[in-house]
Amino acid sequence: MTIDVLLGLQWGDEGKGKIVDVLCPQYDLIARFQGGPNAGHTLEFNNQKYVLNTIPSGIFNDNAMNLIGNGVVIDPIILKRELDNLKKNGFDPVAQKKLVIARKAHLILPTHQLLDAASETNMGADKIGSTLKGIGPTYMDKTGRNGLRVGDTMLTDFRDRYNKLVNKHRSILSHYGEIPDFSEKEAAFFEAIELLKSIPQVDSEHFVNQYLKEGKKVLAEGAQGTMLDIDFGSYPFVTSSNTTSAGACTGLGVAPKNIGNVIGIFKAYCTRVGSGPFPTELENETGEQLRQVGREFGATTGRPRRCGWIDLPAMKYAIMLNGVTELVMTKADVLSGFDTIYACTSYKYNGDIIDYMPYDIHAVTAEPILEAIPGWAEDLTGIRKVSEIPAKLSSYITFLEKHLEVPVKYLSVGPDREQTLILS
Ligand code: GDP
Ligand code: IMO
Ligand code: MG
Repeated sequence: MTIDVLLGLQWGDEGKGKIVDVLCPQYDLIARFQGGPNAGHTLEFNNQKYVLNTIPSGIFNDNAMNLIGNGVVIDPIILKRELDNLKKNGFDPVAQKKLVIARKAHLILPTHQLLDAASETNMGADKIGSTLKGIGPTYMDKTGRNGLRVGDTMLTDFRDRYNKLVNKHRSILSHYGEIPDFSEKEAAFFEAIELLKSIPQVDSEHFVNQYLKEGKKVLAEGAQGTMLDIDFGSYPFVTSSNTTSAGACTGLGVAPKNIGNVIGIFKAYCTRVGSGPFPTELENETGEQLRQVGREFGATTGRPRRCGWIDLPAMKYAIMLNGVTELVMTKADVLSGFDTIYACTSYKYNGDIIDYMPYDIHAVTAEPILEAIPGWAEDLTGIRKVSEIPAKLSSYITFLEKHLEVPVKYLSVGPDREQTLILS
C-alpha cells in the first residue's frame, strides 16, 4: 500500500483543508506532516465553517484516524483552543479516539513567539511577514538540536528542560531589547500541556507504516504551499519546513518508494500573504475584485491576501518538485464575470524570456508575460454535474492541462464540501 500526498502548489491557502475533507472518506488515516499553526485550513459543511491550524482536516469524518506527524511544530495553547472550539460544536476527537500525536513533533514555546516577533521587528521593511506563531524559531531549535518534543512532556524533568531552553531564549531576546512579560502565556502553556498529554502519543514512523502494512489507505496533508518551501520556495520569503512531497517522508517517517499519488492543489488564480516576490500580483482594481469576491483574507491572521493571475512557470516548477500525479483546481467560481482572465506563461527576466523559475525573483524582477483567455459569465456555485460546466471554463482547464501536463481531476466551485466535481 502507498501513501497519497495532498499539498499546495502556490503560496498556500489553495483550499487544502476543504479538499482533504472531501477526499477523506477514501482514506483510513489523515496525517499532517509539516508546518504548524501558521496554517489555517478551512472546511465548510452543513452551513458551518471550521478553521483548523494543527489538527488534520480528516477530523470530521466518522471513520478516519488523524495523526499530527513528527514534522509538525505544535503550540499547545493553539491546539487546546482548536480542541475546545471543536468540542463546543459537538466534536471531540480525543474522546472519539480519532486523534494521535507524534512524540517526535516539536513544541512551540511562548518564547519562540517572542523570538519570531523580535526578529520580524528587527528586520523592519525586509521582514518575512511571518504569521508570528513562532514557527521559524521552533524549527531553528529543532535543527539546532535544542528543541523540546511532545514526548518530553511525559518526562519528570520536563520543567527543567523547558527552563533551560527558555533561558537560552531570554539571552537571545535580551539582544533585541526589553523582554516582554510572558508569565500569562507561560501559565496557559503549562495548562495546555496537560490537555496535550491526554492525546495518545505515537511514533509516527511505526504508526503510519503499520497502516500501510495492513493495506489501509493513508493521505498526507500538507500545509503552506510549494513556493513557501524552505529549500525551493521564494527564499528567504518562505516558511521553515519542507512543504513539498519529500517533506511527507521526513515528516511522517515513510520511505520515498511508498509515496503513491501526489495531489497538487491550486487556485484558479493566485494569492500570497506576507512579504516576498509575487510576479503576477495585481495591485489594482482587478486584484481588489479577486480579494473581495474570493474573500481573500488570511484564515489564521485575517491579513488581506495579495491577489494575482495564475503563474504557470511557478506551478510547473511545483509539479516537478512534488511529482504531482493529479491536480485539483479550487475557486473557479471566483473568476465568474471576468470578460477576460489571464495566465502567466513565461517571464521577462534580465532581458530574456524564460519559462522556468529563476534563482532570484526578488532582487531581479520577473515580469510576467500573460496570455489572455476568454472568461465565463455563469455563476458556478450551484453546479454539481460535469455537463453543467460552461464551455469557456472547460477551455481554461484544457489550456492549463496542456501547459502543466497533468490532468485536473477535481474542480471546486465554492467553499462547501458539496461544491466539488470529479472531472476524470
Ligand atoms: P488552505 O490553507 O489551503 O486549507 O486554504 P484556506 O482555508 O486558508 O483558504 C481557502 C479559502 O477558500 C477558505 O476560506 C475556503 O473556505 C475557501 N474555498 C475553498 N475552496 C473554494 C472554492 O472552490 N470557492 C470558493 N469561493 N471558496 C473556496
Ligand atoms: P496554509 O497551510 C499562506 C506565510 C506567511 C509568511 C511566510 C512565513 O493555511 O496554506 P511563518 O509564520 O511560516 O514563518 O511565515 O509564510 N505562510 C502562509 N501563507 N498560508 C499558510 O498556510 C501559511 N503559513 C505561512 O504569511 O509569508
Ligand atoms: Mg490557509
